[in-house]
Amino acid sequence: MATVTKQLITISNDQDILLVRTAVRQVAIELGFNLVDQTKLVTAASELTRNIVLYAVEGTVKLEQVENQGHTGLRITFEDRGPGIADIELALKDGYTTSGGLGLGLGGSKRLVNDFDIESKVGKGTRVTITRWK
Ligand SMILES: Nc1ncnc2c1ncn2[C@@H]1O[C@H](COP(=O)(O)OP(=O)(O)OP(=O)(O)O)[C@@H](O)[C@H]1O
Ligand SMILES: [Mg+2]
Repeated sequence: MATVTKQLITISNDQDILLVRTAVRQVAIELGFNLVDQTKLVTAASELTRNIVLYAVEGTVKLEQVENQGHTGLRITFEDRGPGIADIELALKDGYTTSGGLGLGLGGSKRLVNDFDIESKVGKGTRVTITRWK
């Protein structure tokens, strides 16, 4: 699978969520995603970046073009060295929140993309990887 890194964004505050939204929209357009797919990617990326700001304070967001058997995808990796998630299955459940939120960010993001992966270790951090294929 061929991979091209398009952007690497450092996250350290609320305003970086807007930077991520703009970058995802731009790369999604460049890769030829339709408007509905662009918006799905932007929405998922927005939620996952918001989680970095809220729970880990800082982290990174990497945007990659991936090519697999003639198919183009946009893969986005959200990485932080925050507190981590003790029970990933529970965190993915709609309505589960530790911050008085809606508890829809992770589950909602998962439904907006084709591939969704979370790795997390308590005290080490969290990495969420999403891909949407054209
Ligand atoms: N990057 C992260 N680091 C640590 N914990 C996280 C991270 N992302 C999510 N979590 C945990 O998973 C829970 C569920 O996250 P999710 O985004 O689904 O809901 P939420 O952030 O609580 O509410 P919202 O609907 O506003 O996003 C969070 O409340 C938090 O405990
Ligand atoms: Mg959230």
